[in-house]
Amino acid sequence: MKKVRVGIVGFGQIGPVHLRSYQQFPEKVEVAAVVDLLDEKLVLAKESGVDQVMKDYQELLARDDVDAVSVCIPTHLHRELAEQAAAAGKHVFCEKPMAMTAADASAIEAACSKAGVKLQLGFVRRFDHEWLKFREIVQSKTLGDKVVWRSVAASQGAPTPWFFQRELGGGPFMDGAVHNYDFGHHLFGSVKQVTAHGTMLQPDRTVMDTGTAVIEYSTGDILQMMWSWGLQAGSTGSAAHDVLGSEGALLFTGAGKDPLDKEASNIGYLTINRPGREQEPHSYVKNDMFRDELESFIDCIREDKPTLVTAEHGKEALRVALAVLESAETGQTVQLT
Ligand SMILES: NC(=O)c1ccc[n+]([C@@H]2O[C@H](COP(=O)([O-])OP(=O)(O)OC[C@H]3O[C@@H](n4cnc5c(N)ncnc54)[C@H](O)[C@@H]3O)[C@@H](O)[C@H]2O)c1
Repeated sequence: MKKVRVGIVGFGQIGPVHLRSYQQFPEKVEVAAVVDLLDEKLVLAKESGVDQVMKDYQELLARDDVDAVSVCIPTHLHRELAEQAAAAGKHVFCEKPMAMTAADASAIEAACSKAGVKLQLGFVRRFDHEWLKFREIVQSKTLGDKVVWRSVAASQGAPTPWFFQRELGGGPFMDGAVHNYDFGHHLFGSVKQVTAHGTMLQPDRTVMDTGTAVIEYSTGDILQMMWSWGLQAGSTGSAAHDVLGSEGALLFTGAGKDPLDKEASNIGYLTINRPGREQEPHSYVKNDMFRDELESFIDCIREDKPTLVTAEHGKEALRVALAVLESAETGQTVQLT
């Protein structure tokens, strides 16, 4: 079976992660070229083993020897690139969030469908063995019939300014939390309503960098997030991540922390706390989720299979993200079903 030749467009934070991931299964894929507007990023790509680098993605899309494109540029630019890549007959891996508007997301889906190319979205947590173990435990109802999933974090967040513009990146409750919205969909299904509040701790931002969002699902399960990307570089706030139910609590013990055997470095644990019992560790084999999601994309191209993370997933997570921003801006709960 022939190797898939991929071009990576955008070599900021996530582009190099795609390169490192593809480089781990060279029997299936070859990175044909890296595209970025900035010279220093192209130098870095060359130093990382890529022969062909360029500044204009049209040059990449015009090449017959490129089969697929990794879309790793800022979110508001995903549509233009993904549409043109699809029209040029390239399979598309589109980083999350899919786009900044529902119309852009639908246009990406339509372009890929019309061209008959694969489309996979970058919801990498769907490949994370830790989060998949968390899903298995929640769905087993060990914690109770319904749960509250809590996530608290505070840092400087994303490093480039476009992330903090309402129309370009949408801030933490669009860009970062979209992973949680997608995984919430994977866990609980459809969202009933969303309530959010927020503020901007840092100047020059047009969207909240700090706030809370409560996502209520039709099942009665709840995702509660209290996130900030409003701190300055070098400072972090408290973090918490757990799941509460009528029968007990699930703690994210940490991929590196093994409560039983400090030597077993490839095994991670989640821990369940239940009344009257010892803490119960639940093990999983640690994995490189980025490698696994990109290998899955390449396998789908080589074997002509449907991708596992689709436009439907991208559009649903975006719908929740847009509802969170709307709720914070209007002060109203937004109904989604
Ligand atoms: N899956 C994940 O966990 C994850 C992590 C980080 C970022 N992302 C997503 O990946 C996308 C990119 O984020 P990032 O953090 O790498 O951003 P970034 O700002 O670090 O890098 C973006 C890069 O794209 C380049 N670029 C911009 N316009 C371009 C164009 N027209 N042609 C070629 N290059 C261009 C910029 O020069 C920059 O180097 C975003 O959608 C983001 O949400 C996903």
